[in-house]
Amino acid sequence: MSGPFRRFPFHDYLETAEQVAPLPRPLIEEAAPETAPDDAELLACQPSALFLLDKAGMLVRLGGNWQGVTGLLPEHVLGRPLHQFLKLPASHPRGLYAESGVCEEASIGRGGLSRRVRVVWQRRGERTAGTLELPGQAAREAYERSERLRRAEEALEQTIACLGTTLDAVQGQHVIRMVAYATRLGEVYGLDEHELRSVRWGAALHDVGKARVPSDILGKRGPLSAEEFDVVVQHPVWGAEILERLEFLPDAARQAVLHHHERWDGQGYPAGLNQERIPVSARIVMIADVFDALTSDRSYKHAWTPAAAGEFLIRESGRAFDPALVRLFLEQVLDLGYLYGDDPAEQPG
Ligand SMILES: [Fe+2]
Ligand SMILES: [Fe+2]
Repeated sequence: MSGPFRRFPFHDYLETAEQVAPLPRPLIEEAAPETAPDDAELLACQPSALFLLDKAGMLVRLGGNWQGVTGLLPEHVLGRPLHQFLKLPASHPRGLYAESGVCEEASIGRGGLSRRVRVVWQRRGERTAGTLELPGQAAREAYERSERLRRAEEALEQTIACLGTTLDAVQGQHVIRMVAYATRLGEVYGLDEHELRSVRWGAALHDVGKARVPSDILGKRGPLSAEEFDVVVQHPVWGAEILERLEFLPDAARQAVLHHHERWDGQGYPAGLNQERIPVSARIVMIADVFDALTSDRSYKHAWTPAAAGEFLIRESGRAFDPALVRLFLEQVLDLGYLYGDDPAEQPG
């Protein structure tokens, strides 16, 4: 058991990972310091806008209150030259190509919507780092606006997490763990921040449609009759229907809920989509869902070991699951890549 967890990369989720399978004590102590808030989180609290340019003057990173100060969406400016948005007066002829500088009268924005800002910058090697600040009162207002926005976003995250975990206590813990798995898989797959949010919300809400399945069917021990099964398979459609009322919910999140039981070979439900026709958010949620269900105790079965569940995902690659995603999940999220070698893993009992 200690093998697959030797370098288990879920430090952020140790608590939930521990519920999947107990971790050896020394690993928990080793991992604890890494759960401290990281620098990125601290930088994100800065009331000024932070930026980093490459040697060509392209914006490669943004931080702090970028949007509040500049009024520009990060996704509209990243990868583009800062001088398209930031104008310096003639008293700074070299602009940000100078080694370092301070300019009190720069303006940031587009066309008639630009704002006056103070810019401070410094070059270090091939990178230039700097800050943009609004003068006095405007700075305070921008900061308060962005704080309100941040709190509203936090409230939304909590609401969705709460909604997704209301079915019952067992389901609640399952949802918390699979959100962590799905988010990590989305990250290593390379999804951007917005796509990741859809995956996270889709994972949290994947089974809300079960609220419409009668509890005697949901809680039934033993096999379901054909009629009962016909009711249960409606839950993704009901889930998507319930969520239609939430206009802010991104389509990819709703798609993840609607299609989280589709199979790679097209034999799943409700639409029988196959391969890439299944939205990637749904393919990710399905892998996280099945892995966590296998590695948890349920009324009808004991928890499988992570290795046994990993073997199952490999066996079902190309049938139930997207093979490329399974490989990423095992190799980069769970550190179970060795399962692809000759080493035969323990099979579920
Ligand atoms: Fe489901
Ligand atoms: Fe589930």
